[in-house]
Amino acid sequence: MNAPETLIPATVCGRSHPHESARAQVCGRAAYVDDLPELQGTLHAAPVKSPVAHGRLLGLEADEALAMPGVVGLVSAADIPGERRFAVAAHDEPILPDGEVEYLGQVVALVVADTPQRARAAAQAVRCRIEPLPAILTIEEALQAGSHVLPPVVVRRGDPDAALAAAPERLSGEFTVGGQEHFYLEGQIAYAIPEEQDGWHVYSSTQHPGEVQHWIARALGLDDHQVRVECRRMGGGFGGKETQAGHMAVWAALAARKVGRPVKLRLERLDDMLVTGKRHNFLYRYEVGFGRDGRIRALKVMLASQCGFSADLSGPVNDRAVFHVDNAYFLEHVEITSYRCKTHTQSNTAFRGFGGPQGMIVTEAILGDIARHLGLDPLVVRQRNFYGPAPRHQTHYGMTVEDNIAPELVARLAADARYEARRQSIAQWNARHPVLKRGLALTPVKFGISFTATFFNQAGALVNVYGDGTVQVNHGGTEMGQGLHTKVCQIVADELGVPFERVRVTASDTSKVPNASATAASSGTDLNGRAAQFAARQIRQRLAEFVAREQQVDAASVVFAGGKVITPTQTLDFAQVVHRAYLARVQLWSDGFYATPKIHYDKHTLSGRPFYYFAYGAAVTEVVIDTLTGENRVVAVDILHDVGRSINPALDIGQIEGGFVQGMGWLTTEELVWDRQGKLLTHAPSTYKIPATGDLPAHWRVSLWPEANREDNVFGSKAVGEPPFMLAISVYEALRDAVAAVAPEDRRPVVLHAPATPESVLRAVQARRG
Ligand code: MTE
Ligand code: MOS
Repeated sequence: MNAPETLIPATVCGRSHPHESARAQVCGRAAYVDDLPELQGTLHAAPVKSPVAHGRLLGLEADEALAMPGVVGLVSAADIPGERRFAVAAHDEPILPDGEVEYLGQVVALVVADTPQRARAAAQAVRCRIEPLPAILTIEEALQAGSHVLPPVVVRRGDPDAALAAAPERLSGEFTVGGQEHFYLEGQIAYAIPEEQDGWHVYSSTQHPGEVQHWIARALGLDDHQVRVECRRMGGGFGGKETQAGHMAVWAALAARKVGRPVKLRLERLDDMLVTGKRHNFLYRYEVGFGRDGRIRALKVMLASQCGFSADLSGPVNDRAVFHVDNAYFLEHVEITSYRCKTHTQSNTAFRGFGGPQGMIVTEAILGDIARHLGLDPLVVRQRNFYGPAPRHQTHYGMTVEDNIAPELVARLAADARYEARRQSIAQWNARHPVLKRGLALTPVKFGISFTATFFNQAGALVNVYGDGTVQVNHGGTEMGQGLHTKVCQIVADELGVPFERVRVTASDTSKVPNASATAASSGTDLNGRAAQFAARQIRQRLAEFVAREQQVDAASVVFAGGKVITPTQTLDFAQVVHRAYLARVQLWSDGFYATPKIHYDKHTLSGRPFYYFAYGAAVTEVVIDTLTGENRVVAVDILHDVGRSINPALDIGQIEGGFVQGMGWLTTEELVWDRQGKLLTHAPSTYKIPATGDLPAHWRVSLWPEANREDNVFGSKAVGEPPFMLAISVYEALRDAVAAVAPEDRRPVVLHAPATPESVLRAVQARRG
């Protein structure tokens, strides 16, 4: 039941067209916010940060700072003309605190000066008078104190207690998975420019210009239509600029309003890491009951996440974790309890996968342990637990899995990557090698596509055809390196039957397409690509009718392809037709709008059909560990991933590779460490290690699953931005497999806390030996 989309002739879509900015980016000619020419009189802001994790703010001493060269002013809570909290749903975040500080690094004021360096130096000279209060710094402390940013959520299906009691086998356990710094290459930045009649133009490196606009308007006491937010591109967002770019923009705008001049705020890396939130770290406790065949009969699991001092996106992130505990597996009797813990640390936020990775990993870990307990191959146990035909077809939130390709996809990958043969040879190799141990794992991904908040699943676009036959497209999505703009240009080009080069995309801009959702949840192309396609389609139809009238033919017989307009009687240049249509006063521009069909969801019961479809994939990963030092390496990776009918295979493979490596970093080297005062110690690349080229596996093969989306989606494609991130769970499972090889007869669970740094692996090895 392929969508009719797949029948549309396409010459631009389906091809590996280079990223629309690739050349400009590698030449340094692609503009980021900090590259824009500065208006005369532009000033720079720098944050004054709380030196304690929790305390009562008694006052600021800024005389010394204000006397420093180039310093123009100090902006504090008293300077906020509008609402004093960021315009988030929970209303729990002060723009600048006036009574209480809630984490070390919280921005309490801003210093404005003529250069960024002078602003930063002066910000350091501002003294915060704070009376310290006791701080809650960890998930365990928060659980004990009952400290939550949002109430706990429980999702239950069937009778997990009875099924657990009746199960032939049981296991229980506890482990932790760390957070992750976004480490976008371009740090957080905004540039706020006052314009005439209290209008504002703000350049922001943001995934969500519409929200930035709204936040600025509320903070400055303005209406939305007074604020215009623009973003040509980000140097990476990864979720870290979904909400938290708004903070920079509001601070810059407040400062600009106070001093009456344009103000730019660019956080330096250290501040960026101290100020902004990260991926939520999780603590898991579980009990599982299963049969001797390895099939799960009952699962009770607690997910507790560290949200930091405010809610931010913690509600939907943790909801997505709850939704993805099943991953690709049928859980008949299940109870999931999700705690959203409040701590006096950075407010954690969206990060690629949006809680999905944290939901999936617990079940993947459990399946690995079930296999060890029963002496079965973990892949066999995984396969036995897959969703299947009724009655094994419904998720714990009541959605029917209609497009389940996991069994076929996994079987194909296992064959292609010679899983079984390698399993044998690794066992033999391990038997001969007492120090180094190899491990192997195949894990699947099933990731739900759509924003779980249904209303976000809408998008708009604006397509302009100019008199010379060239095309400009603007849409509500943002470009962060993922290639969204490239794909949208390809879609518009095919819709109008013109070459890629004829179509140019312009900066995301709240004055062109209003009320756009964040570019997030991997749905950028699904939503904006479709909206742009509909806009282009309207223009094409008008042109077809115009030509048909001129030539006395049926409009349906007019074909647009290869820069030509072909009718049964004549072949014309697209530009020629456009020009004649212009003279005939035909409208040559159009908007387009798209709202995802079929989805609905009740946020109180977490039930319904939150996702339009699922994206699938699987990875086989082989690792080697040194059991004396804990050092580890990923040596071989084979990936088979489902992007539906690919709009651009090169971009899709790039997303798969990038996502996988980022996930590998999350689970292996990227460790966040806070001291007992709540200070983040790993706040620079010197102490926080993201994967480098040397960490890439020597063998690394990525293949695309050759089937179109079974739902009617643009070009038959599927979203790709986030799902591949979770393929890296295979790295974690392979590492646990290698640790298990230390004592192959030991049937106990392998306890490995992530990230699996050498220390963590060594601890797991020692526990296995001890
Ligand atoms: N790829 C690059 N190069 N840079 C990014 O910041 N963000 C990821 C993913 N891929 C990101 C990226 C995240 S978190 C999401 S949600 C999607 O891209 C968003 O874009 P899309 O919806 O257009 O896929
Ligand atoms: Mo992505 S975490 O949905 O920005």
